[in-house]
Order: sequence, then C-alpha cells, then structure tokens
Amino acid sequence: MSDTKSSDTVSVTVNSTGETIELPILDGTEGPRVIDVRQLYAQTGMFTYDPSYTSTASCDSSITYIDGEVGILRHGGYAIEDLAEHSSFLEVCYLLLHGELPNASQMGDFEHTITYHTMVHDQLQFLYRGFRRDAHPMAVMIGVVGAMSAFYHDSTDISDPDQRLIASHRLIAKMPTMAAMAYKYSVGQPFMYPRNDMKYAENFLHMTFGVPAEDYEASPAIARALDRIFILHADHEQNASTSTVRLAGSSGANPFACIAAGIATLWGPAHGGANQAVLEMLEQIGSKDRIPEFLERAKDKDDPFRLMGFGHRVYKNYDPRAGVLKQSTYDVLEEVGIENPLLELAMELERIALEDEYFVERKLFPNVDFYSGIILSAIGFPTSMFTVLFALARTVGWIAQWKEMIEDPGQRIGRPRQLYKGYVERDFVPMDKRS
Ligand code: SDX
Repeated sequence: MSDTKSSDTVSVTVNSTGETIELPILDGTEGPRVIDVRQLYAQTGMFTYDPSYTSTASCDSSITYIDGEVGILRHGGYAIEDLAEHSSFLEVCYLLLHGELPNASQMGDFEHTITYHTMVHDQLQFLYRGFRRDAHPMAVMIGVVGAMSAFYHDSTDISDPDQRLIASHRLIAKMPTMAAMAYKYSVGQPFMYPRNDMKYAENFLHMTFGVPAEDYEASPAIARALDRIFILHADHEQNASTSTVRLAGSSGANPFACIAAGIATLWGPAHGGANQAVLEMLEQIGSKDRIPEFLERAKDKDDPFRLMGFGHRVYKNYDPRAGVLKQSTYDVLEEVGIENPLLELAMELERIALEDEYFVERKLFPNVDFYSGIILSAIGFPTSMFTVLFALARTVGWIAQWKEMIEDPGQRIGRPRQLYKGYVERDFVPMDKRS
C-alpha cells in the first residue's frame, strides 16, 4: 500500500545531546495523521515505547474506519448503521473482501460459492469427539479451526491468490457449520448438515436448533436479527484479535492457523468474551436495587470487578453498534414474546451508569457486547456460545485484514522490540555455590 507522505515533518531533539532528527508525517484519507518512525532506530538507536498500542498505527488499511470521538464505524466508506439497516451479512462479507458492494450478479455468484462451501470434511466431526461434552465451545473452535489446516491443504499456499480466496470462502462458509457442531456436541444432539436452500443466518439457526426428527423453520424476524448481529460484529479495525491474526499471518502461517489464533485472542473477557461476561454480570446483580453496590465495586481499584460491556479503547462516545443492537433487542424480544428481566436490568444499569460521574468522566459507554448477550439469550443460545457467534461473524474481518496484509507488497514479518529492565551481564554461578 503506498505511503501518502505529506510535506510535514516532526522534529525530535534529544535534550542531553542536542541531537535533532526530522520524522515524516503521513496522511491517510481521513483520521489521525501518523509520524513515520520506521527510520527512528537506524537514525537514533532508540525505539518508540507504546506497550498497549494506544498511540500506534500498526499498518495501512482501507477496510474499516473508526472515529471513537464521534462514534463512527464505516466499512469501505459505508456507515455501519446503513449496512445494518439495508445490507445482509454476506453482502458485507463481499464488501470487506473486495472493497466494493457487489452488484446483483456478483452477489449471486458469491452467495452460491459460500453456500456450496458450507459442508465440512466428514472426518472433521471426529475431532469434536476428542473433547469433553462440557468443554467450552471456544476451546473447541480454536481446535477445529486450527485443524482445518490439516484438511484443506489445497488452500494453504498464501502466495497463490486463488488459494487465498478459496481459504477465505471456506472460512466464511464453514464457521457457522463448525459453530453449530460445537453447540450440538455440548448438548448431546446429532450434528445437522447445512442446507443449500437456506440463507446464511437461517442455515445457522437450522444447524443449531434443528433436529433430524422433524423439520425446523427459523423465525424470519430472528434470522434477520441474527444476520444484523453478524454485520455489527464483522470487522473493527486493528482490535486485539485482528492484530493477532495480522501478526500470525506476517510469519507466513496458513490462514486457518491465523484465524485460530484470532479466536483464541477474542475469547478474553476484555475483548469478545465480554458478551458472556455481561450476561453473567447481570445475573450476578440480579435486581435493580443491587445496581449501586455493583457500580461502587466497578469504581473500586482494589476490586477486580469491572462493568462488563462498558468502556472501549477507541470509542470515547457511544459505540454505534450498541445503538443498533439495543433496537434489535426490542425487536427480538417482541418477536419471541418474552419479557426479559435481564433487559430491564440492563436498561436501568445503563441509565444509572450514564449519569454517574465516574463513568461520564472516563467516557465509559455501553459497547457492542452490552446488548448482544441479551438478544442471543432471548434467541436461545447458552452464554457459552456468545463469543463463538462473535468469532463466527468476525472471521470475515480477520480474513479480509489478513488478505490485505498478505497482498501488501511492503509486508514483512512483524517483530516488535522492548525496553529491557532485566539484569545486566553477570557470571554463571554453579549449583553448589548458590544460596
Ligand atoms: C470489544 O478494540 C476493539 O475494537 C474491540 C471490540 C471489537 O469489535 O473488536 O470493540 C470488541 O472487545 C469491546 C470491549 C468489550 N470489553 C468489555 O466490555 C470489558 C469491560 N471493559 C474494560 O475492560 C475496558 O473498558 C476495555 C478493555 C474495553 C478498554 O480498556 P482501556 O482502553 O485499556 O481502558 P482503561 O482500562 O485504560 O480504562 C480507563 C479508565 C480506568 O480508570 P482510571 O485508571 O483512569 O481511574 O476507565 C476505567 C479504568 O479502570 N474503566 C472501567 C471500565 N473500563 C475502563 N471501570 C469500570 N468498568 C469498566 N468496564
């Protein structure tokens, strides 16, 4: 990807020596400018220091743009609100992979390709049997997605653009099948095969909640809500799991291994595991009268409790995805016709937190995970499947970012450095001389 070098530079002077260097400033099409420090070490012998990358651009990308101050999320220039309202998850998959929304013919071909990749190699089912029935489905997904490297050798040559595209299609198509298999295995029901006459979200619902003993028909409203949930989780710039996929891919690892690494990273409760943690937190709070007690715990630095589903590294305003999910929550609960006490509790928790100085001062607003668990619970998924669904949807973002990185001619293996704080050189002490 070409650098957009501006005429601007930044001067850095080391006070003790008076040494000054000029660093170029690069401009993207929008968003913060960047200081190009690629020559810093060669020119000064010094590194930059940014352990959790709060001020670091790790790559160029054209896929997703976020503005955390005003709550903007766009894919290929299209606002997430518009995509959630007017698009479908597979259409967004095409956009993320190719940078443009498909025309009718392209969409027809893409949907056919994905549909006819939804079955998995029949041997893959025996991998599930190696797990305990009560294994967390995220542990299963890390295993089976990584194992795809052993089943789909003909799409692991990352230097071949055709193989990169087939691997991308296989991952997008097979994640719902493997996710549904993880659920079926955990509840002791037979695996359901995908159906070629069903749309993506409908097919996933059918493989998850259908049984061979009778026909299963997904509620169109719920299938639409699930498709929208997948759109909202599809990609999100250089988040922790996407950065993992990029770093793994920079070594030349095959795409299936890279996506398995992304799934492992997403599992953390500070990241994609938060949707499960939100439901567990709401169940722990239990009633509105206990909200103040838990808000105080969230503020207490000595208490590890955090208000799960609140806060975000980038969004210092409302996460635009949370707004769409909040509305979808109402739609799904109305469709399934249940009064979900957890939704009432979540709404009250949100109202009180957004008036609390601690949260307002730190710009801690509900994020994408705050509402997603409530919808998924209402649809019938157990909390252990929430992050699996996040991984299912995010697979297209991971593989699109991986593909963009592999196709960047300037791409090299990622190799951060460190600020060393260990011992300086010292002599070896034989065992009998040690205290
Ligand atoms: C996702 O990066 C992405 O894009 C991720 C994601 C994606 O689509 O890929 O958007 C998906 O991961 C959403 C985030 C889901 N995680 C949670 O809901 C877990 C709860 N949230 C926190 O753990 C936290 O807010 C993070 C991890 C999301 C962000 O952490 P940061 O940016 O490192 O913020 P911080 O820890 O520096 O917090 C700043 C202050 C601190 O207080 P002070 O030291 O300034 O006094 O805010 C406090 C924190 O203690 N704080 C919280 C809090 N989140 C931050 N206090 C209570 N509850 C919280 N949730």
